[in-house]
Amino acid sequence: GQAVPFYGKHQSGIVTPAQDFLYFAAFDLIATDRDEVRILLQKWSAIAARLQRGETVGDDEGKPLVPPVDTGETIGLHPMSLSLTFGVGPSFFRQKGVNRFGLADRQPEVLSELPPFPGDNLKEEWCGGDICVQACANDPQVAFHAIRNLARVARGAAVLRWTQAGFQRTSTADAAKGTPRNLLGFKDGTANPDTTDNEQMNQVVWVQPDEGPDWMVNGSYMVVRRIQMRIEVWDRTTLQEEENTFGRHRESGAPLGKQNEFDPLDLERKNERGELIIPENAHVRLAFGDGTEKILRRSYSYTNGIDLDTGHLDAGLLFICFQRDPLKQFVPIQQRLAKQDALNEYIVHVGSAVFACLPGAQEGGYLGETLF
Ligand code: HEM
Repeated sequence: GQAVPFYGKHQSGIVTPAQDFLYFAAFDLIATDRDEVRILLQKWSAIAARLQRGETVGDDEGKPLVPPVDTGETIGLHPMSLSLTFGVGPSFFRQKGVNRFGLADRQPEVLSELPPFPGDNLKEEWCGGDICVQACANDPQVAFHAIRNLARVARGAAVLRWTQAGFQRTSTADAAKGTPRNLLGFKDGTANPDTTDNEQMNQVVWVQPDEGPDWMVNGSYMVVRRIQMRIEVWDRTTLQEEENTFGRHRESGAPLGKQNEFDPLDLERKNERGELIIPENAHVRLAFGDGTEKILRRSYSYTNGIDLDTGHLDAGLLFICFQRDPLKQFVPIQQRLAKQDALNEYIVHVGSAVFACLPGAQEGGYLGETLF
């Protein structure tokens, strides 16, 4: 039932241990001038700080003749480790080339639309957004309430573009608190960098003072990919094929040829027939590459009823990762995966977005104040 602090050097929800539930929202701005955008971010920051403390949007004085200030579904609930993480997309700065808020000169060089990747099947309705809000909490109603109320107070300045709810096994379901499994049944997150190691986080996640723009220092870039899984095909695949697809054992999560989940990958090792034990096109081999590009993955599973095109379950991974530079970290990894990954037989990328997650705000300040 704990509270995650809203104010700090960095935003919460990035190195914060992943909560059980996600509600992700991408907004489009309908504001037409810079002040309206600044006022929105000020309002959102003040409300986010309240919500993360487990408070409602504002004090309701029980006036019978006006709608209540807060929608009410979290009254009396604990904060449930709610974290709200805000980012701005390339279209925040330039929309179809137009310098809409006079902020185009602030656009980071590394914040541009992602290049197309082979095999992408992106749908407009799952892509982009001027601003994102990632709400994570250990209660789905708390996460939903946050997005609902942020959208409500944004009226006139921003509208919802797309949303996606996400989940993982709840932490109470796993006594051992092990690495959660994705919907293909494999432990997902094993080889992530250590979020408790500040030095590693400075190397992988947080924008550093020397790499500009100044307003992004201590922020981080987020890449979101909505990746649908071809569950029916996967479910007819043999265990051996599944393990070769990832290059890890399903049960233990250990790399093929090793015993324990956290044993390092042995990419050179061959079997008695002289074949690589972790196949050439295994997901972990290609994702690891030569070990230069690292990202912090913080993904959630999703289900969305039935895909009307195929009649199959619409389920998959809302892949989310954080990094200092998406062009040097996510993009080269995804280029390798898109070209060769054995997993491509079982997945398809249907949504995509990239955001610059603002540096944290101090008490009395607001998110984005370094930008205006
Ligand atoms: C590793 C699943 C998409 C990057 C893994 C592992 C699994 C997995 C099971 C091994 C355990 C671990 O280290 O976490 C999936 C699934 C995906 C997906 C089911 C799609 C539905 C992606 C994408 C990227 C990515 C789009 C980035 C472009 C990585 C990286 C590793 C990894 C960097 C660690 C490799 C290492 O250093 O050992 N993934 N993944 N994955 N994945 Fe993915």
